[in-house]
Parts: sequence; C-alpha cells; structure tokens
Amino acid sequence: MRTTTGWEYVPSDNPTNGNSSTALRRGTFQRRDLREDDLAVRIDYCGVCHSDLHMVNGMLKQLGTALVPGHEFTGTVTEVGPAVTGFAVGDQVAVGTLVDSCGQCTMCRAGQENYCAQGPVVTYGGTDRVDGSLTQGGYSREYVLREKFAYRLPAGLDAAGAAPLMCAGVTMWEPLRAAGIGPGSQVAVAGLGGLGHLGVKLSAALGAQVTVLSRTPAKADDAARLGATGLLVTTDEEQLKGARGRFDLVLDSIPGPHELSPLLHLLGLDGTLAVVGYPRPAQVNLFDLVAGRRKLTSSGTGGRTGTADMLAFCAEHAITAEVQVLPSARVNEALQRLAKGDVRYRFVLDLADLDDLDAPAH
Ligand SMILES: NC(=O)c1ccc[n+]([C@@H]2O[C@H](COP(=O)([O-])OP(=O)(O)OC[C@H]3O[C@@H](n4cnc5c(N)ncnc54)[C@H](OP(=O)(O)O)[C@@H]3O)[C@@H](O)[C@H]2O)c1
Ligand SMILES: [Zn+2]
Ligand SMILES: [Zn+2]
Repeated sequence: MRTTTGWEYVPSDNPTNGNSSTALRRGTFQRRDLREDDLAVRIDYCGVCHSDLHMVNGMLKQLGTALVPGHEFTGTVTEVGPAVTGFAVGDQVAVGTLVDSCGQCTMCRAGQENYCAQGPVVTYGGTDRVDGSLTQGGYSREYVLREKFAYRLPAGLDAAGAAPLMCAGVTMWEPLRAAGIGPGSQVAVAGLGGLGHLGVKLSAALGAQVTVLSRTPAKADDAARLGATGLLVTTDEEQLKGARGRFDLVLDSIPGPHELSPLLHLLGLDGTLAVVGYPRPAQVNLFDLVAGRRKLTSSGTGGRTGTADMLAFCAEHAITAEVQVLPSARVNEALQRLAKGDVRYRFVLDLADLDDLDAPAH
C-alpha cells in the first residue's frame, strides 16, 4: 500500500455540526498498490465543489467513517502499471467524479459511465470494484486510478483553472449538448457559482445567447465579462415576467430548495429545464409543462465521451474556471466561504503544502 496525506472528514470530530471550523483535518491514509492498468497521480490542484459541502454538512454523518472529499483535480503522473498504454510518467492529467465502471452495460457502452447500471465508482465515497474499499477523494496528494478514467490535460489550459472543468464544467456541458445548444439558442443559467459561471462560458462559446438568473445583482458585471448578455434578478418578479417564454434551456445550478415554476415559465416551446443542483425533493406542477410542451430533466456530471469532448472544446476556446487558489491547509475556510456564497467563482486547493511533513494537523 502507498501512504498519502489528505484532508479528511472524521465523523467523531463533528458530532452535531459538520460545518464547524475544524470540519476537515489533515491525516494520512492508504492508496492501493498499482494494478496493471493503474496510474499514480500526484494531485496538484483540486476544486472545491458544492457537492463536497453537501457531503460534509449532511451525507457524511450517515457514512460514519473518515472520508477525504474532492472530485475535480489535475495532477502529474508519477508511476504507471505495466499494462498502461496512454500515459507516461510526467504527463499532466485531469480526473473528475468517476474512477471506474463496469464497462459492459448499455450506459457504459454509450460512453455514459456516469449512469453505469452496476453503479459508477465515484471518486470519493464509492466502492472499489476489485477490493471493495471506500474511495478517497482529491483533497489529497496522491490518487491511484485506472488510466481509462484519467484524461490528458490539454496543453495551454492552466492546471488550477482546469481542475473545476472535471466536475462543474462537464456537469454544465452534458445538458447543453443534450439540448442541442448552438448559435441562435437562448440559454439561461440559474445560480452564478462554480457550475453556473462555466455554464455561461460554455454556452457563449457554443454560440448561444446567455442570460444569468441570479439573486445577486452585484454579479451583473461578472456575468457580462463571462459572456452573458444580461442578468435577471430572480427575486424581482417583474424582471422574470418580462422574460417569460424566452429560453430554449434553463440550466439550474441552485444548491438549495427552490420553486421550479418560475424557471419553467421562462421556457419557450419545447424548452428544457435541466436541474443539476440539489433541490430534491422538488414539487412540479404539470401544468407548467403542458403550456409549451416543456421538458424537465436532470443529469449527473458526465461520462468519458462527454468529458473528453468538453476538455477538447475548452482547449479550443481557452475556457477554464475563474479560480481562487488557496493552500490546501485553508480547506475549511474555503468550505465555509462557499457555504456563504463568498467565492468568485471556484476555490481550488493547491495540494503542494501536503508535502510539508511538519505542518500542523489542523
Ligand atoms: N448534478 C451534478 O452532477 C452536479 C455536479 C456538481 C454539483 N452539483 C450541485 O450543483 C449545485 C451547485 O454547485 P456549485 O458548486 O456551482 O455551487 P456554488 O458555487 O455554491 O454556486 C451556486 C450558486 O447558486 C446561487 N445560490 C446559492 N444558494 C442559493 C439559494 N439558497 N437559493 C438560490 N440561489 C442560491 C448562488 O448564485 P447567485 O448569487 O447568482 O444567485 C451561488 O453562487 C450544488 O447543489 C451541487 O451539489 C451537481
Ligand atoms: Zn462536483
Ligand atoms: Zn456499466
């Protein structure tokens, strides 16, 4: 086994309040020895996704065991298994939310390993298909995974700015592609955060006209800089009324409970509301779908095909996330600020400080 260091959530540290200032602490844990088709990756940068926050604040308490979050990272290959053909030591790679799948089912064969019928192995909190161990995420210095689930980091993309593409980016990309968005399309992005700001950049680069739906009017300048043609304030009913029926696609990245009706009303004929944030369970009035044959959908990150396409598109259009890079020792500050909406637009942890063996454990 290989010993590595990371930032882990330890349930006994957080008996009642997972959002405390010491929610995650530094610890060592084991990665597996390399299998035939495995890569060892030194993680350089890992994004802080709102899903990590949901886990720290809720789901991990049920898991009852220590877990290292993090599922969008870039790094450098340090070792390869004997059957690896696509990567060599020194290559820069990017890894997202999946590290394995069955490879046989209809979903896997369609390049949608994220919906593997046997359950995809997620980057943290998943169960390894070979030894049954719990997967530990990217808030750590090393990861070991099958080469099939690593992607070459395109030349020219900044390694810190590219890390969030691997969850936030592809989570916006797949519904954009599924809805056939291109020149002339009208897209709205609800929630200008980690996902949302990439949704704006990707939509604009696809040729669509993009509008941000935000509860924060102060983000209007940023929205324009990112490529949006306008920002509608979601708390202003008049503004929403004026945009009724306008959009082909609304990408909803709002991370908390909210009404879907106001967003559905913004769709035109055959328009789609893609809810990728986590308001579940949500109530839907089917009349909101009847008028205009509107569609309501959701999706979970992306498969290997979509991820590779998204990376190629981002390389072609020089798209990376707007990031605030912090030493990984500031991970708890990053999570707390993310909870308050105080990030423009993605925190990325620089894991290099984990090499400092004398650093304090908290
Ligand atoms: N389906 C998937 O595969 C997938 C993948 C990754 C993440 N997610 C989920 O997507 C959601 C967004 O993730 P993220 O990392 O982009 O989060 P984020 O960076 O916190 O951005 C969310 C944005 O939504 C708005 N917002 C926040 N709280 C809100 C509330 N209570 N009501 C209305 N608007 C609110 C804010 O934008 P404004 O200030 O502009 O309003 C905020 O910047 C999370 O629930 C996350 O777990 C899903
Ligand atoms: Zn994520
Ligand atoms: Zn499968």
